[in-house]
Amino acid sequence: MQDLESLSARALADIEASTDLAALDAVRVAVLGKKGSLTALLKSLGSLEPEARRTAGQAINGARDAITSALEARRERLESEALAQSLATGAVDVTLPGRGEEQGGLHPVVRTQTRIEEIFRRAGFEIAEGPEVEDDFHNFEALNVPADHPARAMHDTFYFPDGRLLRTHTSPVQIRAMRGSPMPLRIIAPGRVYRCDSDVTHTPMFHQVEGLVVDEGISFANLKAVLRHFVEQFFEKPRDLRFRASYFPFTEPSAEVDIQCVFCDGSGCRVCKQTGWLEVLGCGMVHPNVFRACGVDPERWQGYAFGMGVERLAMLRYSVNDLRLFFENDLRFLQQFNRG
Ligand code: DAH
Repeated sequence: MQDLESLSARALADIEASTDLAALDAVRVAVLGKKGSLTALLKSLGSLEPEARRTAGQAINGARDAITSALEARRERLESEALAQSLATGAVDVTLPGRGEEQGGLHPVVRTQTRIEEIFRRAGFEIAEGPEVEDDFHNFEALNVPADHPARAMHDTFYFPDGRLLRTHTSPVQIRAMRGSPMPLRIIAPGRVYRCDSDVTHTPMFHQVEGLVVDEGISFANLKAVLRHFVEQFFEKPRDLRFRASYFPFTEPSAEVDIQCVFCDGSGCRVCKQTGWLEVLGCGMVHPNVFRACGVDPERWQGYAFGMGVERLAMLRYSVNDLRLFFENDLRFLQQFNRG
């Protein structure tokens, strides 16, 4: 009985002295746990006479109830103290002025690409994609550019040791689209392209949008109509177009397309170098060899294709005079495109 009294007195004192929840739990284990001091007393009851066992048992149970409720009370105290403290230190001072988060915006090249996509989407084109790491077949061979073709020299290709390459244009997506789905086809393929070239008007990475339409009875007149529509939508005013005969291995006939200068309307200025014209894209009728490489019968199907540079169109639309501005990420430049 004496043991019990001093034991519960000590337990109650330890409980009061606990200043955090971990210490309190340690007291609980030391007294009520499997190997606790009170548990040991309970176990020793077995050696007593029945009468003595009953009295001692009641006393021990009483002590246990007292200790348990003291533990409970202390735990509640400590928990509410901890809560009060975390509320006090983590409080948000709603009277402080805001930090004024700055609003971000889309990069002008992305804006331009999205705009091009939208115009063609409304004209019934679907968006197609291809990998930026390409193989020789898709980037050159199937586009009627065999290994010894001089056009390869103009492409300044980045090669990987295994012979794969970074695509030099978006034209390989034409091949993937024709080999991957049945005719007819009406796609545009926007994306990054790479050339080992860097000066005032060239960056090693830039963006192109490729276009391809394959159907029965397609002619150059369809190509002209679609491009005229696109240019008018893109620059928000009708423009005269000029088709200059040109050469691309994957089209025959091929043309480079100039538009009436968007700055001087054709009267001659610094941007168009007094010619009144601005070159904006390359195009032509899909070469029969390209169809054959894709398993498409050139006797039955005709098609046109075109390719344009996104940065070039962005420069014309936003009157940007240096290509490199797009890649320097100077916020003073980029923020001008964030409105709207
Ligand atoms: N792939 C050409 C280039 O990067 C652009 C081009 C020209 C694409 C004529 C075409 C095309 O689809 O018909 O210079």
